[in-house]
Amino acid sequence: NLTTQLIEWYTINKRDLPWRKTLDPYKIWVSEIILQQTQIKTGIKYYQNFIKKFPNIQSLSEAKDIDVLKIWQGLGYYRRALNMLETAKKINTTYNKGFPSHYNELIQLKGIGEYTAAAISSICFNEKRAVLDGNVYRVLSRVYNISDPINTNNSKKKFQKIANKLISHSKPGIYNQAIMDFGSIHCKQHNPK
Ligand code: ADE
Repeated sequence: NLTTQLIEWYTINKRDLPWRKTLDPYKIWVSEIILQQTQIKTGIKYYQNFIKKFPNIQSLSEAKDIDVLKIWQGLGYYRRALNMLETAKKINTTYNKGFPSHYNELIQLKGIGEYTAAAISSICFNEKRAVLDGNVYRVLSRVYNISDPINTNNSKKKFQKIANKLISHSKPGIYNQAIMDFGSIHCKQHNPK
């Protein structure tokens, strides 16, 4: 089936990315926030600088606005950086220094929406939460021949339902990254392979 095929494809073809060498939810969170509005190629350098300067939630929570913004300089959407700082402080005080491990807790944090909560909970904690991003919409609409626009609540529900059925029970995080990589490398917007 498609789930198994995607995971097999990913095992061979996945991109070698620095945040794929860890399951630390702090690092996965940093990578997913950076990648929200940023190309992977640009994101890698910012990720590495960010982690070097703030290697864990504790160090980020003790940072000053200006220091986080400095690391973010050039990336744009600076609200992302300030939200991260606020969330780091909150995690450090409320969650007894551990990163929240459930989708329902994650989604309550500033700057963490459905996508990011699903990515962190599936990749780091094996929670069965299917991500929807541009790549996922493209793969699913082509495979299932869906021509609905993706920007309505109704169609979003439709795609989410399909993704929830497809997600691997044993490797939800791998499945999520597989469908995103497949969308970006193979099932491209223009001239899909
Ligand atoms: N785009 C954003 N996050 C990603 C991830 N974890 N894997 C593949 N593509 C992504």
